[in-house]
Amino acid sequence: MILPNVFITYKMTAMTDKLNIKEILQFYLESGVNETCGSTPFCLSPLTSDFRQTRPAASSLALSASSAMQNADNICAQASSIEELKKIVENFDGCSLKNTAANTVMGDGNPEAEIMFIGEAPGAEEDLSGRAFVGRSGRLLDKMMAAIGLDRSQVYICNILPWRPPGNRSPSDAEIAVCLPFLRKQIEIVAPRYILALGAVAANSLLNIGDTMSKLRSHWFDYNFAADKTAKVLATYHPAYLLRTPSQKSKSWADFLRFAKEISQNN
Ligand code: URA
Repeated sequence: MILPNVFITYKMTAMTDKLNIKEILQFYLESGVNETCGSTPFCLSPLTSDFRQTRPAASSLALSASSAMQNADNICAQASSIEELKKIVENFDGCSLKNTAANTVMGDGNPEAEIMFIGEAPGAEEDLSGRAFVGRSGRLLDKMMAAIGLDRSQVYICNILPWRPPGNRSPSDAEIAVCLPFLRKQIEIVAPRYILALGAVAANSLLNIGDTMSKLRSHWFDYNFAADKTAKVLATYHPAYLLRTPSQKSKSWADFLRFAKEISQNN
């Protein structure tokens, strides 16, 4: 369970009169809290105002998301390599996920590959290491790739979001919209011929649609990323979902075979 620091701060100021810090931490541990978001240590000074009253209205959130998105789009134009883009993304302040993440996680693998895999967002291990798909899902993905004769030297693997959402929560629509220019720019730089979207969030965000995985995985999509450049996109289950639902692995295997067949027929 994750507890935002702001909540801890809020609760702790109310509790510190009566309990010492050790007792409070014990209380949180016993309640199942094993993670906080943000690197700021506990703060014991009283909050100046109730954070619930300082939430911006939905309309101003939408406005700030659209200007952050515009800003992300503009700054991406300056990048001509993944390294340059990484620096730009690391310096971008328009998405609050960056504040709670340990690292900005860009793509792993080969930026000159013809094949791109796109996941949702870094998890805990990716956040700590700064590398995409290195945790449990990544280890399963490596095995699935190996089963169709691929490894990370032949694939560029990235995510819709470069920052881990706290506690692995689902990203909001605004967070996805703000970060999409970074994904589009990665696609433009890598210029893949084939994309495998891992999970419905990745596929729907990339293709700007809203279908279930059972509908998404049944056909190929085109993704145009320049006047004359198109990648063929297939969607399949996210490896994290397969870890939770192993019975779906056979469908995923069928998708991987379909993906591999298309590549081998065109090479
Ligand atoms: N899940 C993802 O979608 N991406 C990662 O990098 C790790 C887990």
